[in-house]
Amino acid sequence: MPITFDPTSRLFKLDTDCSTYAFMVYEENYLVHLYYGPKIPDTSLSHLMYRGWNDSFGPHNPQVQDPRFSLAFMPQEYSCANSGDYRASAFEVRGPAGDTVTDLRYVSHRIIPGKPALAGLPATFAQEDEAETLEVEAQDSVTGLKVFLLYTVFARHGAMARSLRAENAGTAPVDLERVYSLCLDLPTMDYDLLHLYGRWNKENTTVRQALQHGSQGFQSRQGMTSHNNNPFAALLRQDASEEQGEALGVSLVYSGNFSFEIEVDTFGCSRLLAGISPASFRWHLEPGESFQSPEAVMVFSQQGLGGMSRAFHRLYREHLIRGQWANKKRPLLINSWEAAYFDFDGPKLVEFAKEAKELGIEMLVMDDGWFGNRCDDFRALGDWQVNEEKLKGSLQDLIQQVNDQGLLFGIWYEPEMVSPDSNLYRAHPDWAITAPGRTGSLGRNQLVLDMTRPEVRDNIFQQMAEVISQNNIAYIKWDCNRNISEAGNAILPPQRQGEFFHRYVLGVYDLMDRITTAFPHILLENCSGGGGRFDPGMLYYSPQIWTSDNTDPIERLTIQFGASLCYPVSSMGAHVSANPRTGLATKAAVAMMGTFGYELDPRKLTPEEKEAVKAQVADYHKYYDLIHNGDLYRITDPTLDPFFCDWEFVSPDQTEVLFTRVMMRRPINFFQVQRLRGLDPDKLYTDQETGETWSGAFLMSAGVDLSLCSWAPVEDGHCVVKHFVAQ
Ligand code: DGJ
Repeated sequence: MPITFDPTSRLFKLDTDCSTYAFMVYEENYLVHLYYGPKIPDTSLSHLMYRGWNDSFGPHNPQVQDPRFSLAFMPQEYSCANSGDYRASAFEVRGPAGDTVTDLRYVSHRIIPGKPALAGLPATFAQEDEAETLEVEAQDSVTGLKVFLLYTVFARHGAMARSLRAENAGTAPVDLERVYSLCLDLPTMDYDLLHLYGRWNKENTTVRQALQHGSQGFQSRQGMTSHNNNPFAALLRQDASEEQGEALGVSLVYSGNFSFEIEVDTFGCSRLLAGISPASFRWHLEPGESFQSPEAVMVFSQQGLGGMSRAFHRLYREHLIRGQWANKKRPLLINSWEAAYFDFDGPKLVEFAKEAKELGIEMLVMDDGWFGNRCDDFRALGDWQVNEEKLKGSLQDLIQQVNDQGLLFGIWYEPEMVSPDSNLYRAHPDWAITAPGRTGSLGRNQLVLDMTRPEVRDNIFQQMAEVISQNNIAYIKWDCNRNISEAGNAILPPQRQGEFFHRYVLGVYDLMDRITTAFPHILLENCSGGGGRFDPGMLYYSPQIWTSDNTDPIERLTIQFGASLCYPVSSMGAHVSANPRTGLATKAAVAMMGTFGYELDPRKLTPEEKEAVKAQVADYHKYYDLIHNGDLYRITDPTLDPFFCDWEFVSPDQTEVLFTRVMMRRPINFFQVQRLRGLDPDKLYTDQETGETWSGAFLMSAGVDLSLCSWAPVEDGHCVVKHFVAQ
């Protein structure tokens, strides 16, 4: 059993195939954290609670016999505010008396097979034989507030999901001021913090730096995930690298304001907190009401960052991405945005479809510009009626013509937004988010609809449902092109305005859930001006997310490599566009590290380019399983290597390998051999192009010879793709 409880020592152990997590119930029912690291068989761990010495400045509960006990120094399982622990706390409640003293003590626990769903929130899921869940009940005796800490162990994946539910079991209202989903007290500061920062067109840039004494962290304040920071962090032992050493990844299944806070205390111990950002959060709980936190997922690996990423990829593919498209082969699409922007009509799209069919493409996506009087980005968001004048006919007719070409049809929406120049806004100006008395700022000429309000969600759902149910739509791109400002509304009472941001996210989840439930056949792709909302919460509703508006293949390398730290490549929207930076082959090689598709005017391709595209389409099918279900090995780091970006997919049974090298800059007189990874040393692998055969041991130790590839005129001088199959 992955979860055990020893009633004598009152020790909880949560074991995965490669890690152990341990905490105990101590004197006076304090929950004390003990260990998280490589798997250990031992059960005598209580001495690990002493990480600092209780001097007279460390408050001491007189009921505790142990003189060394002080919350100021102890590792805590879920740290509370204002009870003697001066580090950043995970949980803070303002009680009826107005103070924020918060003191949770263990009450009971239960261990259940599988994993319960989290009300209103996306989360990982599991069958009863796939995971085990520990629920620990703790209570604050003065306010009566109860907290249920949930831990689900995915043993095979080296992973654990954590969240909590707070219930006001007292007799007076309380306010939750901080509710982090995860608190992790580590006994050392021997870690580098790695996370992903960015901006529009340059998402997922990795930054790695040693932990320092004091506080460090990153957050979103945009009301949405944002391009600026991703809700993912890895703590790496300082000697850990891509394939070696301890890596501890934390990923938050949430799409709103989040915070990752790391504090290194005076003893060099580190506390990691991850969850909803407390800066813009306050939740009012009347007696009997409860609050569910989002889920944080932890992955531990001793195979460095690569091992951690592969564990996240498998976990998210198998236990987060759901619905009919989770494991179904996705249609190869062409999107109209970079091909035509707003400048299209029905006949032009049918021409695209005709050309695309010739190339082997399977779906046409009509992007922004098909509704209301949307001729540019100044108007019509919120008016989700088909502009038949622009399309020169009905949507049904258009889709029929596209279907007649043998292509599926997809459509673009931006459901959370409204243009001031729209019928929806003119009818309901108060539906746009603005705190009372304020003027709403514009972003991309638009306002954000107040998704906290059920009538707003109903309206948008009905508008969308009308179009979707009357037309043969196979795919929706759900876009979101600005963040929230002037947050607030006139609906929530003043003492509940602190709930606004989280309620917005819950509203978006509700609408996405309604759409995907009502139309389960739809393949949903999320997007937020590219990767502004690339997070696990969105992956729960949509198996793929547009990774970036930047389709320059060289820039895309760092963006996709960054995203791949946590997210499976099968979720990363990636298209070949008309971007002039490289030739088609390199663009395809890069898009192949993602969902793969096209975003260009197919009528403008030369006959040679069309032949090249046909070959790429064939490759898409040939390598689909290997790429979508295989293991990713990042071999070089495009942010560090001056010349090459190398990566590799290995099939789960290690019989097939797809190696790709993109040359970012041509080196002169350079010895070009690359050592492969993740192969079976005893298998013999044959290069499918040259027929040469080597052992896995050779390819991993001596490497594959790339010198000829790089000096010979490869198709466009920028990339090499090698396919090996084991006999
Ligand atoms: C931003 C998206 O990222 C683009 O792909 C495109 O859909 C535009 N919005 C349309 O307005």
